[in-house]
Amino acid sequence: MAGVIAAARGYCGGLLRYSLLWLLLAAGAQAAGPGNAAIASAHPLANAAGYEVLEAGGNAFDAAVAVSAALAVVEPNATGLGGGGFWLLHRAEDSFEVLVDGRERAPAAASANMFLDERGEPVPGLSRNTALASGIPGQAAGLIHIAKTYGKLTLAQNLAPAIRLAREGFPMYPRLQGGLKYKQGQLLTNHAGKVFLPGGKVPELGQLVTNPELADALVLLARNGRDGFYAGEQARRMVEGVRGLGGIWTEADLADYQVVERAPLKTRYKDMVITGGPAPAGGVVLAEALNILEPYELNKLDGTTRAHLVVEALRRAFRDRGQYLGDPDFVTIPMQRLVHPYYADGQRASIRLDKATPSDSLPGLSAWEAAGTNTTHFSILDAEGNRVSASMSLNFWFGNGIMIPNTGVVLNNEMDDFSVKPGVADGFQLVGADANVIVPGKRMLSSMAPTWAESDHGLVILGTPGGSRIISMVLLGVLAWSEGADAEHIVARPRFHHQYMPDVITYEDNAFSDDQLRALESMGHRLELSGRRYGNMEAITWDYASGEVKAASDPRGDGEGRVY
Ligand code: DON
Repeated sequence: MAGVIAAARGYCGGLLRYSLLWLLLAAGAQAAGPGNAAIASAHPLANAAGYEVLEAGGNAFDAAVAVSAALAVVEPNATGLGGGGFWLLHRAEDSFEVLVDGRERAPAAASANMFLDERGEPVPGLSRNTALASGIPGQAAGLIHIAKTYGKLTLAQNLAPAIRLAREGFPMYPRLQGGLKYKQGQLLTNHAGKVFLPGGKVPELGQLVTNPELADALVLLARNGRDGFYAGEQARRMVEGVRGLGGIWTEADLADYQVVERAPLKTRYKDMVITGGPAPAGGVVLAEALNILEPYELNKLDGTTRAHLVVEALRRAFRDRGQYLGDPDFVTIPMQRLVHPYYADGQRASIRLDKATPSDSLPGLSAWEAAGTNTTHFSILDAEGNRVSASMSLNFWFGNGIMIPNTGVVLNNEMDDFSVKPGVADGFQLVGADANVIVPGKRMLSSMAPTWAESDHGLVILGTPGGSRIISMVLLGVLAWSEGADAEHIVARPRFHHQYMPDVITYEDNAFSDDQLRALESMGHRLELSGRRYGNMEAITWDYASGEVKAASDPRGDGEGRVY
């Protein structure tokens, strides 16, 4: 594809500082690769698609394309050609690492006030349930780029399993069925209802689900690459469809879409180096929280104090998210400061061991945004040691719940991840400032945090959906791994979350004992039981000493972790 990559402007925080450690790590036994491949994703058929291309001589990057495309078919509530994502890659032969940013962008006709009424108030639902809610999708560009630049097979080879799945069908399963029930009202208002709710009904468990229009769209992509999606007949159909639904896409918006390669963000925490995605991905908040936690010996503290400190670190890191983070190609983010250990020292100074810091006693935001509930993540390690940690999204369940007729494309509603109005919470109750306002061509800020962490004893690759909660889940996952948990324990771990505003700890029912709840409350924390269990984490661990590779999928979902 022509002129593929805009200049990489991501922050390469601390890269040099840790290069020595990297060299040592790369020089270890792991340099030879694990010998086994592993995939953890939200659906066993996506794993099978990945394995199929590995068997055909593909590497982890080919498998990432195959898994991404297969998830677009079997998890249309979470990801698809109408959405976007971040793919974090590690190439074993030279330890090259990159974040492929295929995040959606605001259309050229978008404007800061497009979701506000004449009184300047957000119009309910406009940034979530309408064709205006859709950013220009980056998913297809991401897959084309990864296959071409890093894969060994062709794009067509990598897309073949997904095309077959869309054509031949797969059995309806609980998570998808639940999503269809939840969103059927909206789906039935448009073409999506015809495809996903045949006869106007939610299919039974086990019933075969096909999507011939999506199969055709994937065939066009496989045959024509960029011209099969961002130009030509498919682009015309999409623009016509979106505009017919009240949207503002143009063919130029599609033609202009490019992925951006960003230098991954590296953070040191105790004996580990954590690699994540810089903004617009969620790695900065994770890095800040880890920096704040660094000097505490969490494993020697009681459960209540540990949870308290994690919450206090999240509170401060999320506050900075709201204030400073946005698309780095449009706003200046004080990255050096935010991820500097001295800055964390300052943030830590206001943490008391016995008392919660009320969020409104921290410096306020000069303006505000919120994060989401449906997305997907997968982790891949191949036999040579190439890795992929990828998170992809449509934002809410089935995005805005609208499908463009005759294209197979379910529209995202990621425009809601912008700060629709400074100070007004988004669908994930996140509030943002000016850094994340809507500007034509800008990428909306994300909480997605594809990550891996490495030490001299091993590697963990992980990520999850969950909107703003993604970051706390990944943080808890990394901390669990640092204390010896393997993939299975990491994904199963009970979760809690804090995001600065609202000033409340939400927790899963098994996260705290009654005593711990009482103790946290007496420190001044407000606690709220989460009505449901959240996240769908996919993790792979590799123990360098034993050579053992493990893969696990979150017991909260229907996915699979498998070592091949
Ligand atoms: O990029 C983001 O932060 C959101 N669009 C992610 C949404 C999400 O994770 C929903 N998942 N359960």
